[in-house]
Amino acid sequence: MAGSREQWNSKAGFILAAVGSAVGLGNMWRFSYLTAEGGGAAFVMLYIAFTLAVGLPVLLAELTLGRGSGKSPIQALAHFANAASASRAWSVLGAIFVAAGFLILAYYGVIAGWTLRYAGEAVLGFGPDTGALFGRISEGATAFVFHMVFMGLTISIVIGGVGAGIERVSLIAMPALFVLVIGIAGYAATLDGSGAGYAYYLNADLGNALTVPIFVDAAGQAFFSLSLGMGAMLTYASYLSRDDDLPAESAIIATADFGVAFLAGLMVFPLIFAFGLQDDVSGSTVGALFVALPKAFASMGDAGRVVGLLFFLALLVGALTSAISLLEVVVSAAMDGLGWGRVPAALVAGVSITALGAGAAWSTEVLGVMDSVANNLFLVGGGLGLAVFVGWVMPDPIGEARAGGQQGWLGLWLFLLRFAVPVALIFVLWNSVPSTWAQLVALFAG
Ligand code: PHE
Repeated sequence: MAGSREQWNSKAGFILAAVGSAVGLGNMWRFSYLTAEGGGAAFVMLYIAFTLAVGLPVLLAELTLGRGSGKSPIQALAHFANAASASRAWSVLGAIFVAAGFLILAYYGVIAGWTLRYAGEAVLGFGPDTGALFGRISEGATAFVFHMVFMGLTISIVIGGVGAGIERVSLIAMPALFVLVIGIAGYAATLDGSGAGYAYYLNADLGNALTVPIFVDAAGQAFFSLSLGMGAMLTYASYLSRDDDLPAESAIIATADFGVAFLAGLMVFPLIFAFGLQDDVSGSTVGALFVALPKAFASMGDAGRVVGLLFFLALLVGALTSAISLLEVVVSAAMDGLGWGRVPAALVAGVSITALGAGAAWSTEVLGVMDSVANNLFLVGGGLGLAVFVGWVMPDPIGEARAGGQQGWLGLWLFLLRFAVPVALIFVLWNSVPSTWAQLVALFAG
């Protein structure tokens, strides 16, 4: 079957699909509320440092594993474990990735469903009580219905396949998203009072940020935003040919991902400060953006309907191209491991994930716990496993990463993967596992 594996049609197609996976709710919804919670620019600086020192090396590790094996996560790990005569138990890490894909997409689809609903509400015009609106639409049967619609869209694109589905959608969606985000950020700059937003966002208050919980959040955010630690990038790279320059491509993907997060801050904070809504965000929960921003749109009158619609459309497009990468991890694992066809794999995986989303649709508290478990345990733990595997187990990682490109900073890369990344991630896990566990226990006990 090896010869029949799907491939990207072009390098640009792969890069935009990978950027599409990275850019999503993480850049706009999650980045904004964590930045607000973490005290503005200081959080942003920690997040950049983490992206460069930990995120980028793990991204290149995933691309190297995916391209080198041409396989989905479980088989990719088995392939290189075998090549190194190491234990086949490493393939369990791949199975954990697939489980993470299941878990993340289940609640991600619910939030994407909120954005779909909000795009419609924006056109009708937001009323003054956006907290009540969020309460009404974020939980229960309506939330589940919008989640189902979003998942239906995701499933249909993945059924289209790598080239005709995922790549084609990314080639249109990503440029559109860039235009929207730049346009809205430009518009926000023209509002009276936006200056306070920039000051908050861009002036570092380092004393506030250098706390362990914020360090842990910055790490989780770097992984979530770059789609790392659960095999999404690995799976996309498995459809690549050997002449791609992986180090250069990982730098492009990380830069684009950070660029959109940064621009998202340039949209959100000026809008919020211009209308004096900062208190609505700093009471930061998963719903912050969905309560504060619509208030700003409501205060803007008719212009608010247009800007609101465009904002939530941008969020939706970002969510869709990320969701297809999450589903593709599960689908490619079912195709490679069980020998299923793409259509049944996408339908069975997609419908089961949709059903699992019922928990998150029923309560935002469950959703919040799913998000912490996914980030703090699965992604950070998965990233640690990847770094150790590529750094210490896989034979000749530099040779694999280099094929098709220049050597560049690969010595530094391997050094980071072997030492800095594991140390940083063990520190993060050490500080996040107990509280995440406590959250989980509280949810089941209460
Ligand atoms: N990176 C995506 C975002 O920022 C989320 C994601 C995480 C996608 C993990 C795939 C894998 O929204």
